[in-house]
Amino acid sequence: MSLELQFPNWPTFGEQEEKAVKDVIRSGQLFADQKVREFEENFGRYIGTKYALGLGNATQGLHLCLAALDIGLGDEVIVTPYSWISTASSILMQNAIPIFCDIEEQTLGIDPDKIEKLITSRTKAIVCVHMFGYPCKIREIKSIAEKHNLALIEDASHAHGAELNGKKIGTFGDVSAFSLHQRKALSVGDGGIVCTDNVSLAEKIYKMRSFGSNELSYNYRMTEFAGALGSVRLRKLDEENDQRRKNSLFLNQLISEKLGDFLEPLFINPDSKTVHYANVVKITDEGTRSIDAEYHRVLEGSSLPIRKTWSPLHHHPNFNPCGNSKPARGLPWELDAYDGAMRHTQYKNLHLPVVERFCPHKILEIYVHPPCAEREMLTALRHLQRLFKK
Ligand SMILES: Cc1ncc(COP(=O)(O)O)c(C=O)c1O
Repeated sequence: MSLELQFPNWPTFGEQEEKAVKDVIRSGQLFADQKVREFEENFGRYIGTKYALGLGNATQGLHLCLAALDIGLGDEVIVTPYSWISTASSILMQNAIPIFCDIEEQTLGIDPDKIEKLITSRTKAIVCVHMFGYPCKIREIKSIAEKHNLALIEDASHAHGAELNGKKIGTFGDVSAFSLHQRKALSVGDGGIVCTDNVSLAEKIYKMRSFGSNELSYNYRMTEFAGALGSVRLRKLDEENDQRRKNSLFLNQLISEKLGDFLEPLFINPDSKTVHYANVVKITDEGTRSIDAEYHRVLEGSSLPIRKTWSPLHHHPNFNPCGNSKPARGLPWELDAYDGAMRHTQYKNLHLPVVERFCPHKILEIYVHPPCAEREMLTALRHLQRLFKK
């Protein structure tokens, strides 16, 4: 079965990016310095936080957010089960316990109505994610965090430039982390940046990301290449996000007209400005019954930007180690310092009905990055049409 279309690559780099990288090489200064500082200033101004700290990637960012909040052995952190693994594995890096809270169907973010019953005397923080650049119910989550005096960390890895009620995603929590990985909407190859208004968190993260203070430090520095590329890419971000939104709107209209029985575009909150790192569609019950399994497999192995989504995190081997795959440091929920719910429940016995219903089989991610435009959206539609036996 041939798939005739070549989608343009993402990201596309041009002369400005080439010049930025060459300038770094010519300067002879390759590790964090002036270019990183400039990018931090530019990104902090763009997001609207007092501090922005460049790092090697967002996994390091999430780890340092938790470490700076003094979250450690025996502490519980409420977290979404629908994300990339580092959203939850960073909690394990601090020997703390991820407490997975089910998602809600509108934004696929953590469900604020299910958070409070998970809060115990051990709970220290909530980590939420704005999946694919659709803002989660962050205002409701923030008010629960405030009511219970919990820290709030936003994993904004998919949401550079997204907004809710005119306020940028990444400014709602105490601290936020953005990924700048090659595939992300703001892409420098590998990189991350953490944003906060809290001076003491910023100072701690600053000390921990490199050496030279009494804090236990990591080498989590951003390179000058990443800083230089970041400033160039940031100048293009709003325009590229506009194109992603336009593409999604066009494709979703086509999907609703032609495939409405089988696919349902994810709800877009009219108070929000989405980024559409990917355009997300749910497969309906009728779609699930009609799916052509063979074509689905072909699609998965193709270079087309249409993918089945991730499995829930509580099913990941980090939480369900099999055989001898236990980490040398042990499993934090089995340590004597912890006697909370997860010691007794164990992750394999967790049942989270909403995330398990949708992930991975009932959600498709469709990548709509520029320079893709209407022509590519029409091709994506054709492939989606072949996915269902009518
Ligand atoms: C939601 C989310 N959080 C965190 C990360 C980790 O980002 P990084 O690869 O920069 O460490 C990713 C990466 O894909 C992600 O999708």
